[in-house]
Amino acid sequence: MVSLAFYLSATVLLAQSSVAFNCSIPPIYVDIHKRVTHNTDNFQYGSFIGIGTPAQNHSLWPSLSRNQTSFGASTFCDGNSTLKDCKESTGGFFNSRDSTTFIEDKDYQTLDTAPNSTIKESFYGYDSLRLYTHYFETDGAWQTLVDNSSVEVVEEGTAKPAVVGLGTSSTILNDLAARNQICGKMYSLYIGQGFDRAGGAVNGSNVFGGYDAGRFIDPVHKYSMGSAGENHLNVRVKDIIISETNNVNANVSLFDTAAFPSMSSRPDTFDAQITTDQYPLSLPYEITQNFISHLQAEEDNTWGDNSLKLKNAFNGSMTIILDDGFEVTIPPSVLMNASNITPVQSRAKDSNEPFYLSTAFLTQVYLMADFEKQSFFLATAVQKNNMVMPTPFCPGSTPTAYQRPNQGAFVKQGLIGAIVGGVLGGIGIGICAYCFIASCRRRVAERRIEKRAEEGRKAAKMAQFEVEEVTEFDPPPKSATPFFWKKR
Ligand SMILES: *[C@@H]1O[C@H](CO)[C@@H](O)[C@H](O)[C@H]1NC(C)=O
Ligand SMILES: *[C@@H]1O[C@H](CO)[C@@H](O)[C@H](O)[C@H]1NC(C)=O
Ligand SMILES: *[C@@H]1O[C@H](CO)[C@@H](O)[C@H](O)[C@H]1NC(C)=O
Ligand SMILES: *[C@@H]1O[C@H](CO)[C@@H](O)[C@H](O)[C@H]1NC(C)=O
Ligand SMILES: *[C@@H]1O[C@H](CO)[C@@H](O)[C@H](O)[C@H]1NC(C)=O
Ligand SMILES: *[C@@H]1O[C@H](CO)[C@@H](O)[C@H](O)[C@H]1NC(C)=O
Ligand SMILES: *[C@@H]1O[C@H](CO)[C@@H](O)[C@H](O)[C@H]1NC(C)=O
Ligand SMILES: *[C@@H]1O[C@H](CO)[C@@H](O)[C@H](O)[C@H]1NC(C)=O
Ligand SMILES: *[C@@H]1O[C@H](CO)[C@@H](O)[C@H](O)[C@H]1NC(C)=O
Ligand SMILES: *[C@@H]1O[C@H](CO)[C@@H](O)[C@H](O)[C@H]1NC(C)=O
Repeated sequence: MVSLAFYLSATVLLAQSSVAFNCSIPPIYVDIHKRVTHNTDNFQYGSFIGIGTPAQNHSLWPSLSRNQTSFGASTFCDGNSTLKDCKESTGGFFNSRDSTTFIEDKDYQTLDTAPNSTIKESFYGYDSLRLYTHYFETDGAWQTLVDNSSVEVVEEGTAKPAVVGLGTSSTILNDLAARNQICGKMYSLYIGQGFDRAGGAVNGSNVFGGYDAGRFIDPVHKYSMGSAGENHLNVRVKDIIISETNNVNANVSLFDTAAFPSMSSRPDTFDAQITTDQYPLSLPYEITQNFISHLQAEEDNTWGDNSLKLKNAFNGSMTIILDDGFEVTIPPSVLMNASNITPVQSRAKDSNEPFYLSTAFLTQVYLMADFEKQSFFLATAVQKNNMVMPTPFCPGSTPTAYQRPNQGAFVKQGLIGAIVGGVLGGIGIGICAYCFIASCRRRVAERRIEKRAEEGRKAAKMAQFEVEEVTEFDPPPKSATPFFWKKR
């Protein structure tokens, strides 16, 4: 089976690769979830990336605006930094003197030149970055080493210092592409929901040089990157609809002058930036006012991000419609969580800050960015994903979602058969990666099935990889800490 797969992938790749980009280089998958980080005691949510020799493991938040990949200095919380709960929130502490591979560059000119930076004081240099891929709790992680890569060490600041910079001049994408460790400056993100502000359980992932074909469903929607630095991931919003779960006739558009007579005319469509730099959405003043009046929201600052809070519980969703027709629905569990806090920020009437479709939006969306051809793609994210399918993302190509076989076929053919069948049915590239992951999956599945059988429950569901055992909004387990996330 494997040799057949090899032959097939080689043929497909020959046909697809261009002269400039070697699209047979496998992508690098880096998990986003909670884990222990260097010199901290608590678990922190982020990308599993280490620095230095020996490795100092960190948890880095992906930033779509920053260009530098950065780490908190060991002294970050000793000085003037104003990060909340500093010692538990930096994503780890990096001590450059403990790394034998760190080389300081005193003349380095930062690529993060935007004003109002959350970074107040840093030094720069080169060190080994360790990108960890970790599919299963039961298996170990393996690393991709990026030697002598550009790093920023943040000594003072107002926000989490450990960040993967994925802006238009991303140092990590430049380094990986320049060394042929990925096919080109291609990057995909699912931010997940396993962090405190979102309060969910689903974890996220970064894919450098590729995308996770199992993490989204077709169709994918294509957009052009803006040329202006920080605003490179812009989309246009044409409507926002609030729906009630138990009353399909109660849909209200926040753009509708009949529903909101205080508006003299229908608001214009508006440009919004996609960002991970904040959680709540930032919408135009009028729309925010309509949201407040329709749902009886009030100002609140529980999370320090001015998210609005509802006076009364509301069981419903919010659908954001982009000008090309792509609809993104914020489900009831995200629109109003247990404490009635919404993912929409209050906004001053005279504010001229940009509008943001921020992390709350990305909990429902898979983002795939082609920095080589200045375009990006959005698709509905699959929340309960059981197939990790890192697929090379060739510059200029359009990502395709894994076509889920129907359950009957799955049961009949078994897992490997179903996956190769799916590949032949449309995906084409990345067969080797699939087979490899499929075999891991199978091993874990077998183990799980055994365990479940012991518990006297039906194993059929797991065998079909139909659903994850966790429900979408269970809090992350507190006691069940997997052994290898623990500090030794
Ligand atoms: C393209 O990448 C593959 C996988 O890393 C490698 O085996 C092959 O030699 C590369 N081809 C070229 C032309 O560099
Ligand atoms: C997410 O990762 C955490 C570890 O930080 C793990 O305990 C949890 O089970 C994962 N959630 C899912 C849905 O896989
Ligand atoms: C904090 O900031 C003040 C004023 O900028 C400066 O004088 C002081 O040295 C700083 N302290 C530390 C520990 O960096
Ligand atoms: C920077 O911050 C200042 C003061 O808070 C504000 O007036 C200004 O608009 C900000 N500039 C940008 C580009 O955000
Ligand atoms: C960092 O993580 C890797 C991968 O799990 C592990 O092998 C290594 O021991 C960790 N390093 C430290 C210092 O914890
Ligand atoms: C590390 O990279 C920098 C910048 O690309 C370069 O100047 C330096 O010589 C490199 N050092 C090593 C040891 O490769
Ligand atoms: C809702 O917000 C509270 C804090 O206000 C937080 O503790 C919780 O994790 C969030 N999510 C849910 C599902 O309650
Ligand atoms: C990242 O680099 C781009 C130029 O490629 C620049 O416009 C942008 O402002 C930079 N980001 C930050 C946070 O400075
Ligand atoms: C209201 O919105 C929901 C969710 O977007 C949709 O399923 C339903 O068809 C809509 N109802 C009407 C009457 O348009
Ligand atoms: C919202 O309504 C649905 C359908 O009736 C129900 O299953 C769900 O539990 C409700 N959620 C809340 C938070 O009341």
